[in-house]
Amino acid sequence: MTHIFLYGPPGSGKSTVGRALAGNLHLPFIDIDRVIEEQAGLSIPQIMDNLGESGFRNLESATLKGLKYQADSVIALGGGALVHGGNRSLVEGSGPVIVLTAELSTLLARLENDPLERPLLSGDVRTSLSSLLDARREHYQTFPLSLPVDGMTPVEVALHAQFLLGRFHLSVMGGCDVLVKHGGLDGLGEILRAHGARNPIIVTDENVAKFHVDPARSAMRASGFNPGVLTIPAGEAGKNLHTVTQLWHGFLKAGLDRNDTVIALGGGVVGDLAGFAASTFMRGIQWLAVPTTLLAMVDASLGGKTGFDLPEGKNLIGSFHSPTLVLEDQRVLGTLPEREFISGLAEVVKHGIISDPHLFMLCASGMSLVRERQDEIIKRAMAVKIEILEADPYEKGLRAVLNLGHTVGHAVELVSGYTLTHGESVAIGMVAETKYASRMGLAEAGLADRVSATLAGLGLPVDIPGVTPRKEIVRAMQGDKKRHARAVQFALPVGIGKVQLVDVTDLDSVLE
Ligand SMILES: NC(=O)c1ccc[n+]([C@@H]2O[C@H](COP(=O)([O-])OP(=O)(O)OC[C@H]3O[C@@H](n4cnc5c(N)ncnc54)[C@H](O)[C@@H]3O)[C@@H](O)[C@H]2O)c1
Repeated sequence: MTHIFLYGPPGSGKSTVGRALAGNLHLPFIDIDRVIEEQAGLSIPQIMDNLGESGFRNLESATLKGLKYQADSVIALGGGALVHGGNRSLVEGSGPVIVLTAELSTLLARLENDPLERPLLSGDVRTSLSSLLDARREHYQTFPLSLPVDGMTPVEVALHAQFLLGRFHLSVMGGCDVLVKHGGLDGLGEILRAHGARNPIIVTDENVAKFHVDPARSAMRASGFNPGVLTIPAGEAGKNLHTVTQLWHGFLKAGLDRNDTVIALGGGVVGDLAGFAASTFMRGIQWLAVPTTLLAMVDASLGGKTGFDLPEGKNLIGSFHSPTLVLEDQRVLGTLPEREFISGLAEVVKHGIISDPHLFMLCASGMSLVRERQDEIIKRAMAVKIEILEADPYEKGLRAVLNLGHTVGHAVELVSGYTLTHGESVAIGMVAETKYASRMGLAEAGLADRVSATLAGLGLPVDIPGVTPRKEIVRAMQGDKKRHARAVQFALPVGIGKVQLVDVTDLDSVLE
């Protein structure tokens, strides 16, 4: 981990965005100008008066040098901090720099309401700001990461900064850093070291093992680990107590103790099983998720739900036990079968429907745009889930909206004998549940058609296969754990970006 620096002209929002970003990532926030003021016992204008700009820059350089003694932080830099001397290489050696950029009009509007006195903008603010921007334009353009902030709130800018950085954090269930990095698997060993892992063991399935175990192992060996590997059968059919028991025995055989770490390298099935085995082994040991399917990246690896299926229904036994770290390397998706990638898109569309209309719109544009904007789509879908988890980690209320499509979906998946994938079943479930919401008068006009067309456009099924016995689906829904007394709770879409929780007793009417 490293510091994160925000840089850019006065009024671009470095301090406000920095505070929001630091809050989201659970990191300390440092405003370099305020540190300089505190250390000098003088305000910036007073320092400028007494020492001139070069004196101020010397203090600034000294403060930046001191950052190496600070814990990883989000740091707002002065607007010209990196123009001078060795400051730039010093800062770039300690972490990424994001330049916040804005139109002159945006900056002026913000500075008008800003009580802070800025000595470099004395006199007519428009003229001095305009010439300051002219002088620094080229300099700002030389930084690889920049973020235009016009028209965005600080909260939105902070989220976009997270998209650029590929960094998220879940503060609930003991805290979990989420890193999205192309090629990130190569750094797994270093990450494990930074997390204080000892004697890690990899849990994977037979398909993932073919492609990704050797690279993961070499990355870990390069950092001095010698990980064991437990390979379980691929697919939902093996998501049962028998496999969990095999994992427990494997952990014992590998000599794992309470301080050791399980690494789940695989899709949602591996994550759910390895996470559950870790949550129960010796009353709970830590685990890290390295998701290898799209579905696990945007959904299953986030939020600490672990468990396995019973013959009566999916995920009926489980626990909340969050990984301490999720490492997402989209490079691994290169080996994922097309059907599984498409399957994961069902959960992406679901997150769009729940609270991100822009994400839904991207998905509605079809597969070629989805492929082109894959990175953005994955991060947006993750952000939806993370926001909900922060508000309701243990599904006391809001988190249940994530079950959109799952009440019918889980039942269809079970009754199909798992010939349908989880994502395909959720797609069918979302369409059925949206149609039901329309018939109840909850959903806005045309919503079911929009949802159905979007899913079908991505190659997902939208109808319950004709051969599936309807009675068995109803029975499976009755066994679903989202049951409240005699009613089953549904998360029903009202519009794109809005879902409502509704208790339903008459399940036959849903399937009609
Ligand atoms: N815990 C949660 O919050 C949560 C949320 C959503 C879904 N889930 C669970 O996740 C499961 C579905 O997850 P899934 O769709 O990832 O299924 P999965 O884990 O079965 O993976 C799908 C298939 O892809 C293969 N595979 C995985 N990564 C690969 C790669 N990179 N290259 C080649 N093959 C690869 C797997 O071997 C498997 O055959 C379900 O059991 C569902 O209940 C859990």
